[in-house]
Amino acid sequence: MNKFKNLVANDLLVCLKDISSDISLTSEDLMSMFEYPPDSSLGDIAFPCFKLSRILRKAPPIIAKEIEEKLVSSVVSRVQAVNGYLNIFVSSDYLIENVLYKIENEKEKYGSDGSGKGKTAIFDYSSPNVAKPFHIGHLGTTVIGHSLKKLHEFQGYNCVGINYLGDWGTQFGKLITAYNMWGSDEEIEREGVDGLVALYVKFHQEAELDESLNQKARDEFTKLEHGDEKNTKLWKWFVEISLKEYQKTYKQLGIEFDSYKGESFYTDKMPKQVELLRSSGLMKIDDGASIVDLSEYNMPPCLILKRDGSTLYPTRDIAAAVYRKETYNFDKAVYVTSAGQSLHFAQWFKVVELMGYDWYDKLVHVPYGTVSINGEKLATRTGNVILLKDLFKTAIEKVSEIINEKNPNLENKDEVAEAVGVGSVVFYYLYNNRIKDINFVMKDALSFEGNTGPYAQYTYARTCGILDKAKDIDYLATAPIITADEESELLKVLSKFGEAVKDAIKEYEPSVITRYIIDVCSAFNKFYHNCQITTVNDEAIRNTRIRLTSATKEVLGNAFELICMKKTEKI
Ligand code: ARG
Repeated sequence: MNKFKNLVANDLLVCLKDISSDISLTSEDLMSMFEYPPDSSLGDIAFPCFKLSRILRKAPPIIAKEIEEKLVSSVVSRVQAVNGYLNIFVSSDYLIENVLYKIENEKEKYGSDGSGKGKTAIFDYSSPNVAKPFHIGHLGTTVIGHSLKKLHEFQGYNCVGINYLGDWGTQFGKLITAYNMWGSDEEIEREGVDGLVALYVKFHQEAELDESLNQKARDEFTKLEHGDEKNTKLWKWFVEISLKEYQKTYKQLGIEFDSYKGESFYTDKMPKQVELLRSSGLMKIDDGASIVDLSEYNMPPCLILKRDGSTLYPTRDIAAAVYRKETYNFDKAVYVTSAGQSLHFAQWFKVVELMGYDWYDKLVHVPYGTVSINGEKLATRTGNVILLKDLFKTAIEKVSEIINEKNPNLENKDEVAEAVGVGSVVFYYLYNNRIKDINFVMKDALSFEGNTGPYAQYTYARTCGILDKAKDIDYLATAPIITADEESELLKVLSKFGEAVKDAIKEYEPSVITRYIIDVCSAFNKFYHNCQITTVNDEAIRNTRIRLTSATKEVLGNAFELICMKKTEKI
């Protein structure tokens, strides 16, 4: 609709200048004044005349009436003055030329304005802690992060996805200690991360009874830090096992990372930043620890070094940001984590600013709310946390049951069940404003009715089914004509995709896209239920409707990509 607004604004400006020579507004000014009416009977866009009232020294309803009489615009079918508003209706010709043709021409690029060209954006997301469970809390960072990356890529940014693995820290001392005491290679090979987590859990249980284990763990970690051969080998093995398993989940989501440089990578990059902090006088000693005082900015101090001189989470993040700026020269660096880490990011972003790095304002933290699970219990062997892979597994199994009951002869049943099962979780999750806490209800996520992933995927499959039926029809042979309201309503919704992409990026909010997908699905299904498509007699009408179906498929497909939901041609 942006282009429509733009064209109407140009025509409106001519009209206003005709009404009064006092008008010094630009067409951009007018464009920003348009509103979307609450209800489509009040127009596709509306122009409120209240602000003009002072300039023109006339009451808004009179201005609206005057524009109604004088406006000449080829993209508008009619205008209507109501209570100081000018309601504006888009013409069918506009919809055909600027929406249908545009989708047909631009295809998988439709919706992108290319505004990211020449810019680099990096995304730090997912980043699980090795040897700790990859649980439902990581769903947010994984899918929000990936969706933001996809959105930026779509807009033309050069994007880098970074999995900042939690692959360093005292937990490795604990794990090595536990492995030395109770571990079995065979069991770990067989059980993967679960085996590691079990060792980790056992360590904590035993350490409750025998305090000396904690010292042992510290010693093992110190050995690792000093490059002890045996411990280094074990550490590498633990990381490898964990990564292998995370990759299964990433594959189900269609996610690939460009870099897996985790926390360990920055060990030798921290001393330089610590030295800079020291020499600049920013760092102070407080009770033995080294901190940067942030009281002036209403924040608790940022911890740089512990009393024993060891580095901390913020230290590593500062060093990593400097490295990434040097390596990628990013125009933005986006970090996606739970809202619980908001203070951490605010603190070290401030420290980077105080250090004089002029790119401090290119750092963006994108927080999200918590997830809880209602209804079905997804028990795991690791206690009360819910693992992501178990959540996906349950969803996939449930979809398989539905398919076996409703469409037992479907080809690639397993593939479809995985796409729909995983897609349902992703969609349900991304449907909400990211900052809201979510209560996950599997039954709702899996429903084929309502605003769900399965509903969206089913609608996509429906478009594919219709196009398959129409595959022998030369539907481009006739000029398109719009004959039903459902058709123009559908095109209007399709025209708003570009705006949805822009808003989603501006707000770092993938839910704009999920909600948009539902709008497209409802408009398409209304059209499908009220208009015959391949069976209608009139050739031009039939052809137009097939083209609308194809355009819908294109836009839905583009939108699915942006929220990491797979497309299903058949369900
Ligand atoms: N590994 C951390 C965790 O699971 C998240 C890391 C987020 N990224 C960062 N650069 N701090 O809590």
